[in-house]
Amino acid sequence: MEKAILEVKSLAKSFEKPLFENLSFSVNPGESVAITGPSGVGKSTLLHILAGLESPDAGSVFILDKNIHETCQDLIRNNHIGFVFQGFHLLEDYNVLENVLMPAIIKREKVSLGSKAYQRAIKLLTHVNMNDKQKASIKHLSGGEKQRIAIARALCNGPDLLLADEPTGNLDEDNSGIISSLLLDACKEFNKALVIVTHDTYLAKQCDRHLVLKNKALETAVKI
Ligand SMILES: Nc1ncnc2c1ncn2[C@@H]1O[C@H](COP(=O)(O)OP(=O)(O)OP(=O)(O)O)[C@@H](O)[C@H]1O
Ligand SMILES: [Mg+2]
Repeated sequence: MEKAILEVKSLAKSFEKPLFENLSFSVNPGESVAITGPSGVGKSTLLHILAGLESPDAGSVFILDKNIHETCQDLIRNNHIGFVFQGFHLLEDYNVLENVLMPAIIKREKVSLGSKAYQRAIKLLTHVNMNDKQKASIKHLSGGEKQRIAIARALCNGPDLLLADEPTGNLDEDNSGIISSLLLDACKEFNKALVIVTHDTYLAKQCDRHLVLKNKALETAVKI
């Protein structure tokens, strides 16, 4: 049997109220999973826990057999996870290209002109239709442009697990199609595991599995 990239066991989290309890699921290489559900139900919180950015109250998250909340999170995150945040979290003091290269810079890879990381960044910028804005300041970008840069950055290190929070939330139909294909193709072509939180039912339907977070549990979406 194929080994899962992401394995979630009996996860529980509450803030003022319980968000979810006893959540278990796994995602295999090349598999895409969409999670939908009403606003405020805990989707972003769940993704943050999967990335080790937030602690669960109970349960565990394994990424390539390593418990993300017990081992060196920064190392796992840097080497194995690409995260697209709902609020982008781009670095405003750096330009577009520098933001896309940031995961490689943190990994102390060479990022000079012509380096492998540089070539990957340019390819990704071209894919998301942003190569003409390499030197632009993040401050001057539109919401949709920031979204595309956040996605290019998440893919820059070739992560095994891609976690995307509303990746098409700020995009028009054309760019939404480009981004959906980019994420889904990266998952299939390079055997990545992909978890997308989205309100976009069209995107959710394109994923291998569509789960809904409700009643504190993940249920399989009813196909219509
Ligand atoms: N750090 C925190 N401290 C206290 N409450 C929090 C914290 N983070 C999230 N919450 C609460 O947990 C609930 C779930 O938030 P979350 O952002 O996970 O929802 P969501 O499903 O992603 O919603 P949306 O679809 O609007 O993005 C909300 O009621 C939110 O106010
Ligand atoms: Mg959210």
